[in-house]
Amino acid sequence: MITRGNPRCHCLSRTAPVKVFACRADALADAGCFKADMPVKKLAIDELCIGMYVEELDRPWLETDLPYQGMVVADQSDIDMLARQAKHVYVTDLAPPLSDSAAAAAGAKKQDIDRPALHDRAPLEFFEEIEHARHIRSDMRNLVGAIHDDIRAGRRLDVDTAQEMVTRIGDSVARNSEALMWFSTLKHRDDYTAQHSVHVCMLAVAFAAYLGMDDTQLDTLGLGALFHDVGKIRVPLAVLNKPGRLTEEEMAEIRKHPQHGVDILSEIDGISPDSLDVVLNHHERLDGSGYPRGISGHEISYFSQLLAICDVYDAMTSDRVYHRGRTPADVIKIMRGDTDMINQTLLEKFNAFLGDYPVGTLVELNSGEVGLIVPRTEHDSETDLDQPVVLIMLDHNKHLYYPQRLRDLGRYERFQITRVLASGAYGIDVNDYACNLQ
Ligand SMILES: [Fe+2]
Repeated sequence: MITRGNPRCHCLSRTAPVKVFACRADALADAGCFKADMPVKKLAIDELCIGMYVEELDRPWLETDLPYQGMVVADQSDIDMLARQAKHVYVTDLAPPLSDSAAAAAGAKKQDIDRPALHDRAPLEFFEEIEHARHIRSDMRNLVGAIHDDIRAGRRLDVDTAQEMVTRIGDSVARNSEALMWFSTLKHRDDYTAQHSVHVCMLAVAFAAYLGMDDTQLDTLGLGALFHDVGKIRVPLAVLNKPGRLTEEEMAEIRKHPQHGVDILSEIDGISPDSLDVVLNHHERLDGSGYPRGISGHEISYFSQLLAICDVYDAMTSDRVYHRGRTPADVIKIMRGDTDMINQTLLEKFNAFLGDYPVGTLVELNSGEVGLIVPRTEHDSETDLDQPVVLIMLDHNKHLYYPQRLRDLGRYERFQITRVLASGAYGIDVNDYACNLQ
C-alpha cells in the first residue's frame, strides 16, 4: 500500500519528531532520497493530499502500528490509515498538492471551463459510456494532430482545448472507467506517436482517479501526460522512427526530448509548473539511471513516477511497425523486474487498477476455447465479480464460434484462463473487434 521511507534511516528520529527532523532530512539527502532544503509543512490529516511524503507524525513512529517510518501517501486508504494514527503530520511535497501558481492556474481554468453538472458525471453502464469514450478518443487524436501542426508552424498552442479534453477524460472515468480503458487497448501500428500521447493521458487520468486524486490533480497530471512527448517534434524523424538499434549520438538526440518539451511549453500561458514537471521528468528513474538530469529517489515527483509507469506500459504493449506489442501481463512482469528504477508500490497499484486480465486481453481457457476479455455488465450477488467475462470467439478446435457467446468466469468455476495470447494469435486482431464494438 505504501511507498516507504528509506530503511537506512530507521535508526533516526525515534523521539520527538520536530527536534530530530533536520538531522533526518540531512541523512535522507545524503542518501540521495530528497533535497535537504525541501520545505517541510505541518498539516492536519484532512489537509493531506495524495503524493505528499510524510516525514514525521505528531507521535513517535514506534508507538504506531506502522512498520516503517516515512511514507508516500499513495491513495485515499493511506490517508484513512494515517487518520487512525495521528492528528497532525509533517510533510514534504513530491509534486501534488499543487504549487501556488499551479493551483491558481487550475483555479482560473476551472472558471473558464464549464465542468459538467453533477448529473452528467453520474455512473453509467459500460455500453452507455462507450459512445462518449469513442468521441473522446477521436477528438483527442485530432487534438494531438493539431498540437503538432501548431508547433511546427510556430502557432500558439490551444491549451484551453487541451485542458477541456483532459477534463472530459476525467468525467468519462468518473462515469465508467472501463469504457475509456477499452479504447486504450486499441493499438494501430502506423499511428504510434499520436495514439501514444492519447493513451498515456487516458491511462494516467484513469489510474490517478482510481488512486483517489481530486479533479485539480487529474487536470494537472492529465495535461502533463498529454504533452509529455511533445518535445519529440524536435528530434529528427530518421532517429525517431529508426527500427534498429540507435547509436550513442542518436540516443543523445532522443534524451533531449523532455527538455525540448519544456522549452516549447514554458513559453505558453496556462500550463502549470506541475504539468511541466511531468514533461521534464517522465524518463527519470529511481536509481538515477534516467534522463535528462539523472535525478533519483524522491527528487522525482509522484506525478512523474506515475507517468513513467503509464508511459512504459503503453509503449511496451503497443504494436510498432517492426514488432507487435507484448501482452499486459508480460509487460507488468518485466516492470516488476525493474525494482531499482520503477516505483514498485505504485506498480502494484497500477496492476490492481488494470486487473489481472484488462479488458481487450485475448485469452485461452482450460476448455481450449479462445476469447476476449470484455467489461462486466451484470453484477448480481451470485457471481464472483473479481473474475473476468470472456467473449468466446473460437471453440476448442480453434474454429470460429458462431454466434459468439459471453462466458462469465465468475459464474462458471470450471472454466479458467490458462494463458494470455498476443493480439493476432489464431488470426484474431483485437483491434478489429474493439473498433466495432456496439
Ligand atoms: Fe518520452
